[in-house]
Amino acid sequence: MITTAAISTIREHVSAWRRKGETVAFVPTMGNLHQGHVTLVNEAKKRTDHVVVSIFVNPMQFSVNEDLDGYPRTLTQDSDKLMAAGAEILFTPTAEIIYPKGFSQQTFVEVPDIGDELCGASRPGHFRGVATIVTKLFNIVQPDIALFGRKDFQQLMIIKTMVEDLSMPIEVIGIETIREKSGLAMSSRNGYLTTDEKHSAATLKQALDNIVDAIQNNQPTQQAIATAEQSLINAGFTPDYLEVRNANTLRQATAADTALVVIAAAYLGKARLIDNVTFSRHTN
Ligand code: PAF
Repeated sequence: MITTAAISTIREHVSAWRRKGETVAFVPTMGNLHQGHVTLVNEAKKRTDHVVVSIFVNPMQFSVNEDLDGYPRTLTQDSDKLMAAGAEILFTPTAEIIYPKGFSQQTFVEVPDIGDELCGASRPGHFRGVATIVTKLFNIVQPDIALFGRKDFQQLMIIKTMVEDLSMPIEVIGIETIREKSGLAMSSRNGYLTTDEKHSAATLKQALDNIVDAIQNNQPTQQAIATAEQSLINAGFTPDYLEVRNANTLRQATAADTALVVIAAAYLGKARLIDNVTFSRHTN
């Protein structure tokens, strides 16, 4: 596996592959890799001839009071995992390479509306940072496909919208969330949890599943949400949002919608956890 911080090195390799008619998959990450990321690489390998992974803790998607400085940086372990998974290039740029002019003179990419809700409402500017870095990385790597975890459901939808709106010739593929045995979605931020908190954290997925069950049993959605919210509070969470939305548009769900997503963010100790469950509402 080649590890490089140089944009020119990525371009040379990808151009050489393209000249031979070979295909390229891209998996952008912020490092501190877990089985969810390894699954993205495995899925990428099934679909294309070459896999490029990036590790870049993107300062633009963190607010001033968030965990940019403390975000776990584990490059040696990450490299080992990527090598074992069969990634061919690891791109590890610095902030100076990605944002040579700093932020004030940097062009932004912003996806309207859905970028301002849910996580976007709690983390102003977050999705502008995500859309901007993903655009830059797509332009650097120029992959045929790019893979993202479905745990970050809103992020995935924003990236798909951006790719469509800006006519980027890239297929964006969402890959199923990988979970611990307890149901807890794997996340780089789970490392912030104490052993006790990790135990309680499984309540998040249970809360989402309970809402799905209630809806499928024709129980009132708002009551199911309130019960689930209370179960999170009892487990030590401070809920941020817990909502049922249309899974195709992420708009507020209406009674006519059948493709739904129950989506949540909640704080537990030092971690802000997100998760979601998509389902098709039974129609009678
Ligand atoms: O999901 C992430 O790890 C990040 O938001 C991404 C897509 C790599 C952009 O920095």
